[in-house]
Amino acid sequence: MSARKRLGVLLSGRGSNFVAIAEAISSGTLQGAEIAVVISNKADALGITAARERHLSAQVIEARERKRSEHDKEIIACLREHRVDLVCLAGYMRLLSPEFVRAFPQRILNIHPSLLPAFPGLDAQQQALEYGVKVSGCTVHFVDEQLDHGVIVLQKTVPVLEEDTVDTLSARILEQEHIAYAEAIARVLSGKYEVVGRRYLPR
Ligand code: GRF
Repeated sequence: MSARKRLGVLLSGRGSNFVAIAEAISSGTLQGAEIAVVISNKADALGITAARERHLSAQVIEARERKRSEHDKEIIACLREHRVDLVCLAGYMRLLSPEFVRAFPQRILNIHPSLLPAFPGLDAQQQALEYGVKVSGCTVHFVDEQLDHGVIVLQKTVPVLEEDTVDTLSARILEQEHIAYAEAIARVLSGKYEVVGRRYLPR
Protein backbone atom coordinates (compact mmCIF):
# COMPACT_ATOMS: atom_id res chain seq x y z
CA MET A 1 0.00 0.00 0.00
CA SER A 2 1.32 3.45 -0.86
CA ALA A 3 2.08 5.89 1.93
CA ARG A 4 -0.63 8.27 2.98
CA LYS A 5 -0.35 11.81 1.64
CA ARG A 6 0.51 14.36 4.25
CA LEU A 7 -1.68 17.42 4.69
CA GLY A 8 -0.63 20.71 6.27
CA VAL A 9 -3.62 22.76 7.44
CA LEU A 10 -3.32 26.51 7.99
CA LEU A 11 -5.98 28.33 9.98
CA SER A 12 -6.60 31.50 11.98
CA GLY A 13 -9.86 30.91 13.84
CA ARG A 14 -12.77 28.59 14.46
CA GLY A 15 -11.35 25.68 12.48
CA SER A 16 -14.60 23.95 11.52
CA ASN A 17 -13.23 23.11 8.06
CA PHE A 18 -10.13 21.62 9.66
CA VAL A 19 -12.34 19.50 11.95
CA ALA A 20 -14.43 18.38 8.94
CA ILE A 21 -11.25 17.27 7.14
CA ALA A 22 -9.98 15.45 10.24
CA GLU A 23 -13.35 13.71 10.63
CA ALA A 24 -13.47 12.73 6.96
CA ILE A 25 -10.08 11.08 7.45
CA SER A 26 -11.07 9.24 10.62
CA SER A 27 -14.39 8.06 9.17
CA GLY A 28 -12.69 6.80 6.01
CA THR A 29 -14.56 9.22 3.71
CA LEU A 30 -11.20 10.75 2.85
CA GLN A 31 -8.75 7.92 2.31
CA GLY A 32 -5.02 7.92 1.70
CA ALA A 33 -4.46 11.13 3.67
CA GLU A 34 -3.28 12.16 7.10
CA ILE A 35 -2.88 15.51 8.80
CA ALA A 36 0.83 16.06 9.33
CA VAL A 37 0.58 19.49 10.95
CA VAL A 38 -1.89 22.24 11.79
CA ILE A 39 -0.46 25.76 11.81
CA SER A 40 -2.17 28.88 13.13
CA ASN A 41 -1.00 32.48 13.01
CA LYS A 42 -3.17 33.14 16.09
CA ALA A 43 -2.39 31.61 19.48
CA ASP A 44 -6.04 31.77 20.56
CA ALA A 45 -7.53 30.13 17.45
CA LEU A 46 -10.17 27.57 18.42
CA GLY A 47 -8.88 25.41 15.56
CA ILE A 48 -5.51 25.00 17.24
CA THR A 49 -7.21 23.77 20.43
CA ALA A 50 -9.19 21.30 18.33
CA ALA A 51 -5.94 20.09 16.73
CA ARG A 52 -4.34 19.56 20.14
CA GLU A 53 -7.40 17.66 21.34
CA ARG A 54 -6.87 15.35 18.39
CA HIS A 55 -3.21 14.90 19.35
CA LEU A 56 -2.03 16.36 16.07
CA SER A 57 1.08 18.44 15.70
CA ALA A 58 -0.31 21.94 16.34
CA GLN A 59 1.99 24.89 15.78
CA VAL A 60 1.41 28.59 16.40
CA ILE A 61 3.54 30.79 14.16
CA GLU A 62 2.62 34.40 14.79
CA ALA A 63 3.53 37.20 12.40
CA ARG A 64 4.86 39.39 15.25
CA GLU A 65 5.10 42.48 13.03
CA ARG A 66 7.52 40.70 10.74
CA LYS A 67 7.36 41.17 7.00
CA ARG A 68 4.99 38.74 5.29
CA SER A 69 7.85 36.99 3.52
CA GLU A 70 9.74 36.44 6.82
CA HIS A 71 6.66 35.01 8.51
CA ASP A 72 5.92 32.81 5.49
CA LYS A 73 9.51 31.53 5.47
CA GLU A 74 9.00 30.11 8.94
CA ILE A 75 5.71 28.50 7.89
CA ILE A 76 7.29 26.99 4.75
CA ALA A 77 10.10 25.54 6.90
CA CYS A 78 7.55 24.03 9.28
CA LEU A 79 5.56 22.50 6.39
CA ARG A 80 8.76 21.05 4.91
CA GLU A 81 9.86 19.71 8.26
CA HIS A 82 6.56 17.85 8.46
CA ARG A 83 7.01 16.60 4.85
CA VAL A 84 3.70 18.05 3.73
CA ASP A 85 2.40 17.03 0.29
CA LEU A 86 -0.62 19.34 0.15
CA VAL A 87 -1.30 22.59 2.00
CA CYS A 88 -4.95 23.30 2.89
CA LEU A 89 -5.93 26.83 3.85
CA ALA A 90 -8.93 26.58 6.15
CA GLY A 91 -9.92 30.05 7.29
CA TYR A 92 -6.33 31.29 7.15
CA MET A 93 -6.80 35.05 7.24
CA ARG A 94 -3.48 36.17 5.76
CA LEU A 95 -2.45 36.60 2.17
CA LEU A 96 0.37 34.29 1.10
CA SER A 97 3.58 35.80 -0.25
CA PRO A 98 4.59 34.88 -3.82
CA GLU A 99 7.49 32.89 -2.28
CA PHE A 100 5.00 30.73 -0.39
CA VAL A 101 2.88 30.08 -3.48
CA ARG A 102 5.98 29.20 -5.50
CA ALA A 103 7.26 26.85 -2.78
CA PHE A 104 4.18 24.62 -3.27
CA PRO A 105 3.14 25.00 -6.91
CA GLN A 106 -0.44 23.69 -7.46
CA ARG A 107 -0.09 22.20 -3.99
CA ILE A 108 -2.06 24.75 -1.98
CA LEU A 109 -5.85 24.62 -1.73
CA ASN A 110 -8.19 27.24 -0.31
CA ILE A 111 -11.90 27.22 0.45
CA HIS A 112 -13.96 30.35 -0.09
CA PRO A 113 -17.61 30.90 0.89
CA SER A 114 -18.94 32.08 -2.49
CA LEU A 115 -19.13 30.91 -6.05
CA LEU A 116 -15.93 32.48 -7.36
CA PRO A 117 -15.21 34.63 -9.28
CA ALA A 118 -18.19 36.30 -7.57
CA PHE A 119 -17.51 37.94 -4.23
CA PRO A 120 -13.81 37.36 -3.52
CA GLY A 121 -12.22 38.75 -0.36
CA LEU A 122 -13.78 39.35 3.03
CA ASP A 123 -17.46 39.00 3.97
CA ALA A 124 -18.36 36.99 0.87
CA GLN A 125 -21.73 35.92 2.28
CA GLN A 126 -22.69 39.52 3.05
CA GLN A 127 -21.57 40.60 -0.41
CA ALA A 128 -23.78 37.88 -1.94
CA LEU A 129 -26.81 38.92 0.13
CA GLU A 130 -26.36 42.60 -0.67
CA TYR A 131 -25.91 41.90 -4.37
CA GLY A 132 -29.16 39.96 -4.38
CA VAL A 133 -27.97 36.72 -5.97
CA LYS A 134 -30.43 33.83 -5.70
CA VAL A 135 -27.77 31.11 -5.57
CA SER A 136 -24.47 31.08 -3.73
CA GLY A 137 -22.16 28.40 -2.38
CA CYS A 138 -18.51 27.61 -1.86
CA THR A 139 -15.43 27.12 -3.98
CA VAL A 140 -12.33 25.01 -3.42
CA HIS A 141 -9.51 26.29 -5.58
CA PHE A 142 -5.76 26.12 -6.01
CA VAL A 143 -4.00 29.16 -4.60
CA ASP A 144 -2.09 31.37 -6.99
CA GLU A 145 -0.53 34.76 -6.46
CA GLN A 146 -3.85 36.64 -6.69
CA LEU A 147 -6.53 36.70 -4.01
CA ASP A 148 -9.22 33.99 -4.38
CA HIS A 149 -8.22 33.53 -8.00
CA GLY A 150 -6.55 30.15 -8.70
CA VAL A 151 -7.91 27.22 -10.72
CA ILE A 152 -11.25 25.96 -9.39
CA VAL A 153 -11.33 22.32 -8.30
CA LEU A 154 -14.91 22.09 -7.07
CA GLN A 155 -17.94 24.22 -6.24
CA LYS A 156 -21.14 23.49 -4.35
CA THR A 157 -24.25 25.63 -4.54
CA VAL A 158 -26.93 26.61 -2.06
CA PRO A 159 -30.10 28.68 -2.53
CA VAL A 160 -30.24 32.20 -1.12
CA LEU A 161 -33.63 32.59 0.58
CA GLU A 162 -35.70 35.73 0.93
CA GLU A 163 -35.56 35.59 4.72
CA ASP A 164 -31.79 34.94 4.87
CA THR A 165 -29.48 36.88 7.14
CA VAL A 166 -25.67 36.72 6.88
CA ASP A 167 -25.77 34.13 9.66
CA THR A 168 -28.34 31.80 8.09
CA LEU A 169 -26.72 32.00 4.65
CA SER A 170 -23.24 31.45 6.14
CA ALA A 171 -24.46 28.37 8.01
CA ARG A 172 -26.02 26.90 4.85
CA ILE A 173 -22.81 27.49 2.92
CA LEU A 174 -20.62 26.16 5.75
CA GLU A 175 -22.46 22.85 5.71
CA GLN A 176 -21.49 22.46 2.05
CA GLU A 177 -17.93 23.64 2.73
CA HIS A 178 -17.46 20.75 5.13
CA ILE A 179 -18.41 18.26 2.42
CA ALA A 180 -16.64 20.07 -0.42
CA TYR A 181 -13.20 20.38 1.16
CA ALA A 182 -12.67 16.68 1.84
CA GLU A 183 -14.02 15.84 -1.61
CA ALA A 184 -11.67 18.30 -3.31
CA ILE A 185 -8.67 17.04 -1.32
CA ALA A 186 -9.45 13.45 -2.37
CA ARG A 187 -9.67 14.50 -6.01
CA VAL A 188 -6.38 16.37 -5.94
CA LEU A 189 -4.56 13.63 -4.03
CA SER A 190 -5.75 11.06 -6.57
CA GLY A 191 -3.66 12.89 -9.16
CA LYS A 192 -6.28 11.94 -11.74
CA TYR A 193 -6.71 15.35 -13.31
CA GLU A 194 -5.04 17.85 -15.51
CA VAL A 195 -5.15 21.60 -15.56
CA VAL A 196 -5.66 23.12 -18.99
CA GLY A 197 -5.56 26.90 -18.86
CA ARG A 198 -7.88 27.72 -15.98
CA ARG A 199 -9.76 24.45 -16.24
CA TYR A 200 -9.42 21.59 -13.78
CA LEU A 201 -10.29 18.47 -15.76
CA PRO A 202 -10.76 15.10 -14.06
CA ARG A 203 -9.13 12.19 -15.91
C1 GRF B 1 -14.97 29.56 6.01
O1 GRF B 1 -16.19 30.16 5.68
C2 GRF B 1 -14.06 29.52 4.80
O2 GRF B 1 -14.73 29.40 3.60
C3 GRF B 1 -13.39 30.89 4.87
O3 GRF B 1 -13.18 31.11 6.25
C4 GRF B 1 -14.16 30.39 7.00
C5 GRF B 1 -13.40 29.53 7.95
O4 GRF B 1 -14.24 28.85 8.84
N1 GRF B 1 -12.16 30.89 4.09
P1 GRF B 1 -13.63 27.75 9.79
O5 GRF B 1 -12.51 28.42 10.58
O6 GRF B 1 -13.13 26.61 8.96
O7 GRF B 1 -14.77 27.34 10.68
